[in-house]
Amino acid sequence: MKALVKIGGSLLDDPASRHDIARQLAELSASGVAVSVVHGGGKQMTRFLDERGIQSTFVGGLRVTTDETIDAVMKVLAGSVNTQLVAALCAAGARAVGLTGIDSGLATAVQLDPALGFVGKVVSSDPSVLNALSSNGFVPVVACVAGGAQGEVFNVNGDSMAVAVASGWTVDRLVFLTDVPGVLDGSKTIIPTLTVADCRSLIETGVATGGMQAKLNAACEAVLGGVGEVRIVRGSDAGIVSRVFAGESVGTKVVAA
Ligand SMILES: Nc1ncnc2c1ncn2[C@@H]1O[C@H](COP(=O)(O)OP(=O)(O)OP(=O)(O)O)[C@@H](O)[C@H]1O
Ligand SMILES: [Mg+2]
Repeated sequence: MKALVKIGGSLLDDPASRHDIARQLAELSASGVAVSVVHGGGKQMTRFLDERGIQSTFVGGLRVTTDETIDAVMKVLAGSVNTQLVAALCAAGARAVGLTGIDSGLATAVQLDPALGFVGKVVSSDPSVLNALSSNGFVPVVACVAGGAQGEVFNVNGDSMAVAVASGWTVDRLVFLTDVPGVLDGSKTIIPTLTVADCRSLIETGVATGGMQAKLNAACEAVLGGVGEVRIVRGSDAGIVSRVFAGESVGTKVVAA
């Protein structure tokens, strides 16, 4: 089985949570699942910029990315967040390798919208590097940074990056580990299953906003693109990775129709 696990940045910020998730992913890899990881780091980015007096501006859940921001993306996402996760995975016994979408054309992007600056939309994904690593027992860990045709560096929302890589690598399963127990309805109850139409309506009615809006758009793209199973769960729930891979109905499952 081939699986892509996307880890939200806030789960990686706390060392205990980072090591716990790393241990579970190392176990998953040892059980024979070919796993690749994509991670975000929104919280770490905001903190880094705050510390330097740079305000973060979001449009539709996406961070407006100036020259200064893209430099921070390389330092924080491709740098410290990626390296800390790789270190935790290696400590847990996995043969983790850190990379970004720029490596070997894993994710090539174009500018999404001039108003957002260096925010990229991934237009192609060459999975060769994932195949080369995965078939030799390595666990690729991809920071959500993509390359442009002219050598530009683009900031890509972690969820969009996960879907682009999952589609290019043709995974069986895509799991989003986030900081909420699933997609919540208006009365904060977990919604067990969502169709693409349900996702659109949650966004239109303003129930799913910000990061969850971006995640649902990404999840819809994944199921419409043929990813077998897409699930959104809370990464801090005990043993969550093995529960998901054992087929437990936890969190929210997104289906085509
Ligand atoms: N209907 C909803 N149900 C659940 N969460 C929601 C909803 N609407 C908005 N949210 C917000 O979406 C957030 C999850 O998205 P967010 O982008 O913050 O996390 P992530 O994608 O896991 O991490 P990162 O962006 O660092 O990769 C939740 O913490 C919550 O505040
Ligand atoms: Mg997010």
